[in-house]
Amino acid sequence: MRLISTIVILLACLCNIINCSGQIDQFFMMTKFGMFFSFNTTTGQLITNQNTKSGDKYFFYAAVDSNSTTNTVTFLGTDKTDRNDYLIEYNIEHNNFTNLQGIEGQYGGFEWSQIFAYDPVHNFAALPSIVMNEQEANLTIFVWNFTSQELEEITLPTGSLNQNDMTPVASYDIETGNYYIVYCLANPKILYLVVYNMLSRKIVQDPIAFDIYIPTPQIVFAAGKLFLINTYPMQNYEIYNVDVTAKTVTPAYTIANSWTTNQGSDFDMVIGQKGTSIVLFSHSKLAYTCTTIDLETMSFHASPSYQTDIKFGYEWVSGAI
Ligand SMILES: *[C@@H]1O[C@H](CO)[C@@H](O)[C@H](O)[C@H]1NC(C)=O
Ligand SMILES: *[C@@H]1O[C@H](CO)[C@@H](O)[C@H](O)[C@H]1NC(C)=O
Ligand SMILES: *[C@@H]1O[C@H](CO)[C@@H](O)[C@H](O)[C@H]1NC(C)=O
Ligand SMILES: *[C@@H]1O[C@H](CO)[C@@H](O)[C@H](O)[C@H]1NC(C)=O
Ligand SMILES: *[C@@H]1O[C@H](CO)[C@@H](O)[C@H](O)[C@H]1NC(C)=O
Repeated sequence: MRLISTIVILLACLCNIINCSGQIDQFFMMTKFGMFFSFNTTTGQLITNQNTKSGDKYFFYAAVDSNSTTNTVTFLGTDKTDRNDYLIEYNIEHNNFTNLQGIEGQYGGFEWSQIFAYDPVHNFAALPSIVMNEQEANLTIFVWNFTSQELEEITLPTGSLNQNDMTPVASYDIETGNYYIVYCLANPKILYLVVYNMLSRKIVQDPIAFDIYIPTPQIVFAAGKLFLINTYPMQNYEIYNVDVTAKTVTPAYTIANSWTTNQGSDFDMVIGQKGTSIVLFSHSKLAYTCTTIDLETMSFHASPSYQTDIKFGYEWVSGAI
């Protein structure tokens, strides 16, 4: 009897540990109009559908963190009442917001949909973009440094980026501080990868040209591996393995997807990441599906599809809990 209860306790602890290490339970979206939706990634069911009434106070850039124990999401955004950027914690159950750390001033620049860098240990968030209205639009990393409370700009010697392309996009490795950035030059139209270390402030991998061109890429670094994902709305989602040493990109997975029209817009999001797992939200034949993939084991779970009268599109910000 004692032995059995010990085993049960051990199992319960183990499950807790596994859960803490980044298993995805929910996919969520925050629309431009402040509607918050979340789905159970196991069952595919819509579990939260509420108006946050946040539009007058906040403009969100991204969701940067989440906690399944407290059922909270941390957004990065502008507080329109004092025009400063903050980390803003959203409590789903209470449907209310708390400003956490902030910087003096606001970004207000240009962003493509992606999972922003967030490093709670080194206390910053980051986004690759370009400086607007500059003659030479080189790749520039914007850093929300919550320690200095400043928005910093790091411009790399890339030459001018293609401003019609849905890049730059990037993925941050919290273990090493490496920021894997994909961008496209103005001329010729070729995708490049550059790796910049946010802690040493150095380029640690010079630009590598990809042998394929994807106009709407997402990049994910997880479990020591790099993946390119094509999330173009009206086609299947394609996941590619990127081998930086061999400089090759090879298809790994396809997720059925076919938004009939470009619901929402290309600028918006259908992806979330937590630890080494990602979730993709897809649409096919009037039904919605959440597919979670553990990129460490390459195991994946497609939820049963969910049918509803609510029209979801590519929404402004999305993420995983
Ligand atoms: C999702 O559904 C499963 C199966 O019904 C349930 O065990 C789990 O608690 C649900 N998770 C959330 C976050 O609602
Ligand atoms: C989630 O919140 C709980 C309760 O505040 C905390 O103990 C835990 O460390 C948090 N988890 C993460 C991953 O931050
Ligand atoms: C959020 O709502 C809860 C429950 O009503 C309340 O206890 C808490 O103080 C609220 N927090 C904020 C920041 O308004
Ligand atoms: C943030 O600012 C602090 C203080 O100026 C500095 O030490 C730190 O390196 C900065 N962090 C980043 C990621 O640039
Ligand atoms: C932009 O990149 C070019 C290299 O192509 C470099 O010569 C130039 O100095 C860079 N501009 C800035 C502001 O860093």
